Amino acid sequence: MKALVYHGPNDVRLDDKPRPSIQKPEDVIIRVTATALCGSDLHLYHGTVQGMEPGQTLGHEFMGEIEETGPEVQEVKVGDKVVIPFNIDCGRCWYCRHELWSQCDRSNPKGELGGSFGYTQVLGGYDGGQAEYVRVPFANTVAALKVPDSIKTDEQVLFLSDILPTGFFGADIANIKPGDDVAVFGAGPVGYFAVMSAFLHGAARVFSIDHWPIRLNKTKDLGAEIINFDNEDPVERIKRETGGKGAICIDAVGYEAVGHSGGNSSKGNSKNSYGHDHSKVSNPAYEPANPLQVINWMCQAARKYSTISIPGVYGTSYDQFPLGQLFNRELQIRMGQCPVKKYNEQLLHLIEVGRIDPTKIISHTMRLDEAPAAYKIFDKKEDSTKIVFKP
Ligand SMILES: NC(=O)c1ccc[n+]([C@@H]2O[C@H](COP(=O)([O-])OP(=O)(O)OC[C@H]3O[C@@H](n4cnc5c(N)ncnc54)[C@H](O)[C@@H]3O)[C@@H](O)[C@H]2O)c1
Ligand SMILES: [Zn+2]
Ligand SMILES: [Zn+2]
Repeated sequence: MKALVYHGPNDVRLDDKPRPSIQKPEDVIIRVTATALCGSDLHLYHGTVQGMEPGQTLGHEFMGEIEETGPEVQEVKVGDKVVIPFNIDCGRCWYCRHELWSQCDRSNPKGELGGSFGYTQVLGGYDGGQAEYVRVPFANTVAALKVPDSIKTDEQVLFLSDILPTGFFGADIANIKPGDDVAVFGAGPVGYFAVMSAFLHGAARVFSIDHWPIRLNKTKDLGAEIINFDNEDPVERIKRETGGKGAICIDAVGYEAVGHSGGNSSKGNSKNSYGHDHSKVSNPAYEPANPLQVINWMCQAARKYSTISIPGVYGTSYDQFPLGQLFNRELQIRMGQCPVKKYNEQLLHLIEVGRIDPTKIISHTMRLDEAPAAYKIFDKKEDSTKIVFKP
């Protein structure tokens, strides 16, 4: 079968690989009908994540039809169409029983965080879904995401695998109350759905901050007020617009943030002085532009006593922390990997009744053999918002 395989930093290729087979009694094999490219894939593409080894199939946002089931799979059957959450959960450990699926204790024997598809040895080494077929373990737990007949296209529900619930999680953990003003940093796919979700949580105004017009215009369509950080200082603008009060802040960027040299708001960043341990990533020469840019902006733009929400990914390799501001301003921080299943039922219902339309984020639909080119386009950001593959 064809699969998009990681070969090294900035080197992904469509390879021929053996079709996966059932390895454990609770496995299923899925024929992938749609899969997407995520900002998280770009962290791997840049070689900045520990434990990424050549040979692993990429992709953690996918859906498809069940082709084969292991002997202990009762909850789904051959022919079912399912969306697969990017985090792999066993459904039975303490964390799964407490609905903390992203922290599953049994799906990843190789590390602390639960397993994920297509995402390093550290997250379990599972092959991903940018492929024609994929093995899904613990498949009894994916029954919740069977695609109902009311759904007409894959694209309507594909993003339930990650970015839609992740954007929603960003708004949920931010503790948004009706009438609050919210600032979403990053207008990529996660930022887009965080903006949508902030409105679903009752936000009065939502500011969307990025510097790519194509992406900002998408969030503007959702009703956001856009701020291009190349043209103005986002902290000053948010403070001004909110009468000095500030907004509830969501980071939908993560450690690959682009820095900004002008304006007071970037004061305090100590670019290139992180003291981080590069030795364990596959591209030690890589230097993120300004990993703490968004954190610093948020610490200044956040309404006092509010919660800072961080769905954007931070690894341990590029760490430095503005603890003083967080303490003095009594900010709460919530962050982490989204427990996708927590939100899927309500989000699916919003799609079914037509209240939200996730397909509007898609800028490109491509074939799997175009995936290496797609990584380049998505990495450049300025011409794309979300790329879907139809294997
Ligand atoms: N927590 C989770 O479970 C989870 C799930 C999916 C994605 N993520 C993470 O969310 C982040 C966003 O994902 P995406 O798919 O939207 O990625 P993306 O790379 O497509 O988008 C990121 C956007 O941030 C913008 N940006 C860069 N620097 C900025 C700055 N200083 N201020 C404002 N905007 C800035 C970029 O221009 C880009 O449009 C990534 O870190 C990704 O790994 C986390
Ligand atoms: Zn993703
Ligand atoms: Zn578990």
